[in-house]
Amino acid sequence: TKTYKIAAIAGDGIGKEVMPEGLRVLDAVSRRFGIHLAFTPIDWASCDHYQKTGQMMPDDWREQLQPMDAIYFGAVGWPATVPDHISLWGSLLKFRREFDQYINLRPVRLFEGVPCPLAGRKPGDIDYLVVRENTEGEYTNLGGVMYAGTDREIVIQESVYSRFGADRVLKYAFELSQQRARKHLTVATKSNGIAIAMPWWDGRADEVGKAYPTVTVDKQHIDILSARFVLQPDRFDVVVASNLFGDILSDLGPATTGTIGLAPSANLNPERKFPSLFEPVHGSAPDIAGRNIANPVAMIWSGALMLQFLGHTDAHDAILRAIERTLIEGPRTPDLGGTATTTDMGRAIAELI
Ligand code: NAD
Ligand code: IPM
Ligand code: MN
Repeated sequence: TKTYKIAAIAGDGIGKEVMPEGLRVLDAVSRRFGIHLAFTPIDWASCDHYQKTGQMMPDDWREQLQPMDAIYFGAVGWPATVPDHISLWGSLLKFRREFDQYINLRPVRLFEGVPCPLAGRKPGDIDYLVVRENTEGEYTNLGGVMYAGTDREIVIQESVYSRFGADRVLKYAFELSQQRARKHLTVATKSNGIAIAMPWWDGRADEVGKAYPTVTVDKQHIDILSARFVLQPDRFDVVVASNLFGDILSDLGPATTGTIGLAPSANLNPERKFPSLFEPVHGSAPDIAGRNIANPVAMIWSGALMLQFLGHTDAHDAILRAIERTLIEGPRTPDLGGTATTTDMGRAIAELI
């Protein structure tokens, strides 16, 4: 059988605390299903590494990671020592771009046993996928500051959308919608205010959508779409969005399911020309780091998404079942209203596998 090479990059803050729990569960599931995972722990792509060396990653980062079958990633960022735009553009955002991980798939689901902050909602009412464009859009470094330091100072930062880039994420979202029971796609837009790029984005959705007649499409301005995530979450099945809109929706959605500590993500290069990257949606959480109280589920579920992408759906499902049971029976970390540690919760999930 094949041995999968996985880079394990813990990063900073709670990334270093949830990573061992993710590995614990992957270890359990790989033994149960006879999957061979060979992990390479990597301590760069972290602010510690930056402090030691003056850069986030070694010059040969690409040569080291390209041979991997996947990257399992914790979280990066320690703003007390390294400005966020330096640490993130020096690591995670570089991976997404340079490994062309143009799909950021972010499931949102309300679990049984987790109190919902939205009144009257039960599991099943919130169950959708955010498909976030992950390589272009609002995330560019095109622009600059002019007349700096004067009272005429101006700043320009461009957004860039390409037909190639929009069409491929739309195509992915339509195909995903087509495979689901409800076959419903919401396109996040803002074609009233952002009057060049967003009507264009709507037009690309119309064009790409022609090939998917069974999928119903609903274009919504991002402002009301956000409101409906809160008021009518059962409307959503698959939601496709530009890079920044998708970023915001993928914290909002999980917040409505009780905690962002549950939310996983898959940064995919579907063509498998480059390794894909699997990580929690959340960051390094400096406010709770070092206390062993972070919820490890986002990290563990991201590991399940990694196995699914590698073709092991049975192992993915086993992890999900163990997460579901643990959320019902406990132990639970403080963000879920409990008093358990990160380790307690990770162990409980691993033991159920
Ligand atoms: P954050 O996601 O780290 O934290 C936001 C809030 O959610 C905090 O109150 C935190 O305690 C809580 N939280 C997050 N994950 C949790 C978990 N697993 N269990 C319980 N509570 C959890 O966002 P932030 O505070 O905006 O960013 C902190 C740092 O992380 C910054 O450096 C930021 O740039 C970085 N960041 C990195 C990533 C990433 O690596 N993918 C994602 C988001 C933010
Ligand atoms: C995420 C994060 C990143 C993003 C940051 C850390 C650059 O918020 O993965 O959602 O904006 O994409
Ligand atoms: Mn985010």
